[in-house]
Amino acid sequence: RIPLLIDTDPGVDDALALLMAFNDPRHEVVGLTIAAGNVGLVHTVANALKLCEVAGVDTPVFAGCAAPLLHPARDAAYVHGRDGFGDTGYEPATRQAEAEHAALAILRLSHEHAGRLLLVALGPLTNLALALKLDPTLPSRVARCVVMGGAVTAHGNITAAAEFNIAFDPEAAHLVFEAFPMIDLCDWEATLAHGLAHTHVNAWLAADAPRARFYEAISRQTRAWAGERRGSHWQSADGLAMAYALDPQAALEVEERALAVELQGRHARGATVVDWRREEGRPDHVRILMRYDQARFEALIQAALTAA
Ligand code: BDR
Ligand code: CA
Repeated sequence: RIPLLIDTDPGVDDALALLMAFNDPRHEVVGLTIAAGNVGLVHTVANALKLCEVAGVDTPVFAGCAAPLLHPARDAAYVHGRDGFGDTGYEPATRQAEAEHAALAILRLSHEHAGRLLLVALGPLTNLALALKLDPTLPSRVARCVVMGGAVTAHGNITAAAEFNIAFDPEAAHLVFEAFPMIDLCDWEATLAHGLAHTHVNAWLAADAPRARFYEAISRQTRAWAGERRGSHWQSADGLAMAYALDPQAALEVEERALAVELQGRHARGATVVDWRREEGRPDHVRILMRYDQARFEALIQAALTAA
């Protein structure tokens, strides 16, 4: 099985992505490295441990960076709940996080699975940036790197121009995009183009299965929030990124380009500026997901939620 390392900030859509990964027979999740993002690190770590407990997996969980590299954090509690999991007041998991820091775990696991590792980043890129600073040879041991982040034509979700994961820590994102020779990117605009009908989601969540029951509870608040703002469809950014990671064959259209992260700017800090016209002469280093097989995406989600 392909070793899969997930860097994440759970987060309701992170949780769906993790369930999809745990359920995939072709991949083995070798670790969850956790960053601050959607909410603070204390909550994102607790949420990761709880999700593992609900899913019945003993994947090691490593706590990482509690804040962006340079600037103060701004969270997305208004989307995911104050605890990042819809404020259900769940009983904390009995297991604790490992003692090793997430950045060190990323490096160690990259050696243990050198040449085979699938690395999927679903949150701000702070842990990965720190790992790269500690050891710039990391990309040479990663078989494939998939990132959820960015807004490739500047339709952001946290500011007009920027997407949350990149805007949370633009410096970290810059370091990561500069370091990997190729990154498979699932951005916010792809997410919008692959909405999930609330009617479908509700049907999956009604399944008599522990994962569906837990997910129904933690996602209730954010599904209602999205329903009020975006109508009939719900967006799962991290779910789509994980679908692309687990089954890249189901990608129907991708575009390879060069990309820069805007680090300055009054209106566009954290924007992912794609050289669509290939004006700057830089080799392509991101493969942008434009279209994914919607039926395959939904089948992966349904299977993940309804698994025994
Ligand atoms: C991304 O930001 C977070 O709120 C989600 O978990 C996802 O990773 C979408 O912009
Ligand atoms: Ca996330």
